[in-house]
Amino acid sequence: RGLYPPPPGESDIIGLEVAGTVDSLGPGLTKNWKLDDRVMALLSGGGYAEYVSVPEELLMSAPSDLTFSQAAAIPEAWLTAFQLLVFIAQVKEGEVVLVHAAASGVGTAAIQLVRLLGAVPIVTAGSQEKLQMAEKLGASAGFNYKKEDFVQGVHDFTAGKGANVILDCIGGCNWEKNVSALAVDGRWVLYGTMGGRSVDGDLLGKLLSKRGHLLSSLLRSRSLQYKSDLVTAFSQKVLPYFSGQLALLRPVIDSTYKLQDIQDAHRHMEANRNMGKIVINVIPPNEELAD
Ligand SMILES: NC(=O)c1ccc[n+]([C@@H]2O[C@H](COP(=O)([O-])OP(=O)(O)OC[C@H]3O[C@@H](n4cnc5c(N)ncnc54)[C@H](OP(=O)(O)O)[C@@H]3O)[C@@H](O)[C@H]2O)c1
Repeated sequence: RGLYPPPPGESDIIGLEVAGTVDSLGPGLTKNWKLDDRVMALLSGGGYAEYVSVPEELLMSAPSDLTFSQAAAIPEAWLTAFQLLVFIAQVKEGEVVLVHAAASGVGTAAIQLVRLLGAVPIVTAGSQEKLQMAEKLGASAGFNYKKEDFVQGVHDFTAGKGANVILDCIGGCNWEKNVSALAVDGRWVLYGTMGGRSVDGDLLGKLLSKRGHLLSSLLRSRSLQYKSDLVTAFSQKVLPYFSGQLALLRPVIDSTYKLQDIQDAHRHMEANRNMGKIVINVIPPNEELAD
């Protein structure tokens, strides 16, 4: 819909994450990438395509136990959640982290990462089914924001202290509830505005009375160096937990669609029906080499 335009110089084709095999290598590589390596990558655009070109800094080996579809569900969603929790909020062991949109791509990653960091995820979502899935992923408590007051839920869960961190992709319509649910000295991390961009009321006064930190972040517009540092940290600290004996984490796939059915995929997402990621098979699975 053009509501999230690409950064200057980036492809205007949508698609921010992919998985597949290495088809060709450019000059000046510093790592030992080989043709046909199974990889996944973070992009600034252009992912709805059979071929993408990507700086090696943003390339990761696809975890060996995962299919291409599963690997494709990792880069943007998991790097975003990791960035917000580790680089921005600097979540510490034992802290309570409130994750909104628990069943979203980013939300399903965030719940699992909060657990991996030794902190306690609590969540909001718009249906019982979504809350149940969040619980299976590790959420300690969940609140259906359509039916109950999540502020009360957070205060009950934390014995009145509030959440140390809030991961917020909703924004506008929730601002007052978020400040009320925040602990003193808490960090409220805004990374989306699905619930509106305007705030009408005493935001600054309420935030000040909590000594709250309002932080915001976008991944797509970050520099190559920042993304490279993020990919390196994620590859060291998180990727090992997707495969083998250490496997604690899983990308959550809601559904997969063929490229020719892309409109159905977008309708499904726009109706907020997905629980986890929607994956597009650009190449039909029977033509894939190693999935
Ligand atoms: N800042 C960044 O770097 C960055 C990076 C990636 C994504 N994002 C943002 O992160 C958000 C999540 O992305 P995603 O791809 O993970 O989402 P997604 O999988 O498409 O899930 C979005 C979910 O959010 C919930 N939702 C939508 N509108 C809502 C509202 N007004 N109030 C409460 N809940 C609402 C819906 O679930 P319910 O049924 O529970 O309502 C919906 O299914 C988006 O806003 C996206 O733009 C930001």
